[in-house]
Amino acid sequence: METIKLNIDKALGFVSKEKIDAYASQTAAANKMLHEGTGKGNDFLGWLDLPSTITAEFLKDIQATADLLRSKCEVVVVAGIGGSYLAAKAVIEALNNSFDWLQKERTGPVIVYAGHNISEDYLAELTDYLKGKSFGIINISKSGTTTETALAFRLLKTMLENQVGKAEAKNRIVAVTDAQRGALRTLANLEGYKTYVIPDNVGGRYSVLTPVGLLPIAVAGHDIRQFVAGALAMENLCGLDTAFEANPAAVYAATRNELYKSGKKIEILVNYHPKLHFIAEWWKQLYGESEGKDNLGIFPAAVDLTTDLHSMGQWIQEGERIIFETVLTIGNANREVVIPSDEANLDGLNFLAGKRVDAVNKMAELGTQIAHVDGNVPNLKIEIPALNEYYIGQLLFMFEKACGISGYVLGVNPFDQPGVEAYKKNMFALLEKPGYEKETEAIKARL
Ligand code: PA5
Repeated sequence: METIKLNIDKALGFVSKEKIDAYASQTAAANKMLHEGTGKGNDFLGWLDLPSTITAEFLKDIQATADLLRSKCEVVVVAGIGGSYLAAKAVIEALNNSFDWLQKERTGPVIVYAGHNISEDYLAELTDYLKGKSFGIINISKSGTTTETALAFRLLKTMLENQVGKAEAKNRIVAVTDAQRGALRTLANLEGYKTYVIPDNVGGRYSVLTPVGLLPIAVAGHDIRQFVAGALAMENLCGLDTAFEANPAAVYAATRNELYKSGKKIEILVNYHPKLHFIAEWWKQLYGESEGKDNLGIFPAAVDLTTDLHSMGQWIQEGERIIFETVLTIGNANREVVIPSDEANLDGLNFLAGKRVDAVNKMAELGTQIAHVDGNVPNLKIEIPALNEYYIGQLLFMFEKACGISGYVLGVNPFDQPGVEAYKKNMFALLEKPGYEKETEAIKARL
């Protein structure tokens, strides 16, 4: 099997190869800090060896739970937010048919999401959709107290119990949470739900290889063994024994840090396949929460091309020169569509007749790369041989490893997120949550 490849050739006109290579010892030291647990946030390093420590029995158990939900449910609602939602959605969207929810002849349930917003319309429309359908719920929350998720679960649980009765509802609810702590753990124990544990030492955004990601991916019908096998290949490739230039996580971390130092404050993750949109959303969380602190950090942004060439393309080509791009490029499309010839040729497209649509997409990609580099946008490329479980497993693990290394090179703790508490404190104060009386008084005085 091949591995995904990082190509930094088109960044080298902006930062020198010597400068990137000079990061070899720093990235090796950062990698060692991760493996020896001597850096900041070292109580959250459980994700590092997940690919090599997940057992076949564990995957079998997850698959059995997934099969049960697949057999019982037309729809499965995955409830979670941030690290408890984005990875599953990213992988499922990347692998599903683009029109999955419209497929009539199904082999498994439609997957929908909840608990990642507090929109009343969203929840009303979701419950409308679920009316009269046999559905199940995977409720994912490490803390077990996240408002968005807990609120959605309360509504969904009530609806499910009303629809099928309490006894059957408990067969269709799976909780993924902390081993001991939190409201969801207490509730799950009380109700007798099937549960999976999010290990203490794995933070939300690094949890795709725990049941947080694996269970929904398996319910959607994708091969979690292949996914883990891909991640394992990357665990080996990005290990301590690999030389700098052969370790894509180290080279990616080095290049983006050097670009950042040279004034490139925004990294845009680019894709040419709409299925990859949520891979970028997951990546944005991973890098944004890991590096955006202490008044530091590249701002992670994303575009879907060629769609956004007709909107953000102008800014990328000619806006302020503080950006660089990392392009996810897919070797072979999974499906084949050949452009037909047309006798009248009124659209003037006969010069493309007989070519595959993917060949046109690839030329759009190449033309865009040349244009953006000409417009002073450094360009990194991640070459993914094909869109399948194995290579997505590689990609996500490579990004996780690179994020840990990159954060340490930057000098921040890539495993905490103190900044996300600020809005919660204000929201609870405004909602007059018991225990927040002082904060309520203080915030109301400011309104
Ligand atoms: O990466 C993180 O730690 C966060 O995005 C969390 O995953 C998110 O806030 C959800 O938290 P929880 O799983 O406790 O509900």
